[in-house]
Amino acid sequence: MKHKVLVTGGAGYIGSHVVNLLGKAGADIVVYDNLSTGRKASILYGKHIQENLENLEVLDRFLRDEKIEAVLHFAGSIVVPESVSEPIKYYNNNTVNSLNLIDLCIKNKVKNFIFSSTAAVYGMGDGTGKCVEETELNPINPYGRSKLMTENMLEDVSKARDFNYVALRYFNVAGANVDGLVGQCTPNATHLIKIASECASGKRDRMSIFGTDYDTSDGTCVRDYIHVDDLAQAHLDALAYLFKGGKSQVLNCGYGHGYTVKEVIATVKKVSGVDFPVEIADRRPGDAIELISVAKKIRAVLGWAPKYDDLELIVRTAFEWEKKLI
Ligand SMILES: NC(=O)c1ccc[n+]([C@@H]2O[C@H](COP(=O)([O-])OP(=O)(O)OC[C@H]3O[C@@H](n4cnc5c(N)ncnc54)[C@H](O)[C@@H]3O)[C@@H](O)[C@H]2O)c1
Repeated sequence: MKHKVLVTGGAGYIGSHVVNLLGKAGADIVVYDNLSTGRKASILYGKHIQENLENLEVLDRFLRDEKIEAVLHFAGSIVVPESVSEPIKYYNNNTVNSLNLIDLCIKNKVKNFIFSSTAAVYGMGDGTGKCVEETELNPINPYGRSKLMTENMLEDVSKARDFNYVALRYFNVAGANVDGLVGQCTPNATHLIKIASECASGKRDRMSIFGTDYDTSDGTCVRDYIHVDDLAQAHLDALAYLFKGGKSQVLNCGYGHGYTVKEVIATVKKVSGVDFPVEIADRRPGDAIELISVAKKIRAVLGWAPKYDDLELIVRTAFEWEKKLI
């Protein structure tokens, strides 16, 4: 792949895995990241511009001067509870900055755009536990709403202009690069496998399970965990699709089956050999019982063929990375 791409948030957890695969595929990469939660050391390929998305002059100049052919937009704020206490921060960083970026793409004739959306747009789901792309969208926090607004903007702009996008709705992203090159460094991460790996590697004393009285096999919530390298590959597939002239798409990105919180914690204990303390806490408001993707469309449209659909492998890569991370 010889294309020139701009990757916002390429120093972050998911962006750095995508940059790694893009670099290996020979893409010409510019990473635009202010390092607010990302790390410079995670950028394995390309040129880095350490700037805020709010700096529209710089962004405009780079889109124009670097002759960018596609933008992959990962940069954003991602902590759901923080979005409830700091909604303006989320609407600014996730919605306003996305709007300005899309506007500059149109102005600079960048016609291909990939957006990191989220299963949070489904909110509590429709009660079936399964989400197809057509499932009613009902985000229940500012984070989910800020991402849905960007999906809506992309849809409207792509109808009005020569501009195509793929919005990937990620389910629960987990694990680290299978070669151990990059992993999750996000400070104060709220992701279950990351937290359990922190416990197993001695960085946390204990962790909590929020609610054990749900109507599931063991009473804990069920989620669809996708390995970050499989997710990263979906972005390369989406890019190839857009460069071949593919039309705009919104696609779920998950494995289509899930695990309970207790199953995940048991797997972390098994893989690490560490029996860390786990406390039972009350349910948290806003936790859906079960959120599983129906991810047939992404396979049909992009030809995406995941390779790491294996909870033990996901956990092993996360744990190995956590042990290396200082
Ligand atoms: N991690 C998940 O499970 C998950 C699930 C669904 C969707 N997503 C989405 O995927 C994307 C990436 O998430 P992540 O887990 O890699 O998060 P992350 O915090 O690790 O990465 C975000 C990156 O964006 C950069 N950034 C943030 N605001 C910026 C700004 N204003 N200007 C320049 N750079 C900025 C940060 O420094 C960081 O490197 C986000 O858009 C997120 O909403 C993540």
